[in-house]
Amino acid sequence: MPQEVERYRKPTRILHWINAGAFVLLFLTGLILFIPQLGFLAQDSWTRVIHRIAAVIFVIIPLWYLLSNWKASWKSIKEAFTWGAEDIGWLQAAPRYYFLNDKKGMPPQGHMNTGQKMWWLIVIVFGTIFVITGAIMWFAKTIAPAAVLQWMVFVHDIAFIVTGCMLFVHIYLGVLHPLMTEAWGSMARGKVSAEYAKSHHGKWYEEVTKGKEVKS
Ligand code: HEM
Ligand code: HEM
Repeated sequence: MPQEVERYRKPTRILHWINAGAFVLLFLTGLILFIPQLGFLAQDSWTRVIHRIAAVIFVIIPLWYLLSNWKASWKSIKEAFTWGAEDIGWLQAAPRYYFLNDKKGMPPQGHMNTGQKMWWLIVIVFGTIFVITGAIMWFAKTIAPAAVLQWMVFVHDIAFIVTGCMLFVHIYLGVLHPLMTEAWGSMARGKVSAEYAKSHHGKWYEEVTKGKEVKS
């Protein structure tokens, strides 16, 4: 039995941290635009400039990754959209698992558990919404009808609220939850212990040890 197993390759980890940095900048500069009382922080529009620079990074880096790592990217996208019996089982068992530390009833999970699949879906769907609404506010400000621009601001704001809340859940489950502290190692060093992989991602661990896995 191996001591440790690789969860994320270096390019994937670099992508994650660059994108996380860009997202945090977008979130903070967006927050300043969103809360009128913080308007004094946005003097000279520096927040708008940073918002746009971070937006370009947030779009270009994943696209570059997607094109240069299409096999691993496609595998992850496919996995996030493929749901089966073990996902229904996860949804039923998750409250007792995460709140009461009761591991009975939690079916073995793949490389992504169902919670991670949901985060992937949120990132893909709301990421696309951010790009479309943001691009219209940015490039069509002078030509789009006022009502369209108002809708774009509204939808951009909804995406901001949903993804902002879910980011806190992501950070809590990925870093702070007592059962999940090893998850940090998978994005920091790329590896987790075989024990952790077996108990949190049992189905994936089987595939890794049989050598059937495509690296993400
Ligand atoms: C990904 C591409 C994105 C683009 C192209 C984009 C672009 C923009 C633009 C052009 C504005 C209008 C700013 C102005 O008044 O000059 C804006 C506002 C805003 N953005 Fe983004 N953005 C993006 C992503 C994000 C993300 C990821 C978040 C938060 C997590 C975010 C949060 C906000 C908020 C809260 C506002 C203020 C809207 C309001 O006035 O109520 N944006 N964005
Ligand atoms: C800024 C603080 C963040 C921290 C501390 C953080 C931490 C982590 C950790 C530890 C993992 C590995 C979980 C595992 O494999 O068990 C992970 C995975 C992941 N992160 Fe983040 N992350 C952050 C921000 C973000 C942002 C902003 C995004 C998207 C825009 C994101 C997208 C993802 C995705 C898609 C995964 C793979 C699926 C998953 O494990 O949930 N992360 N993150």
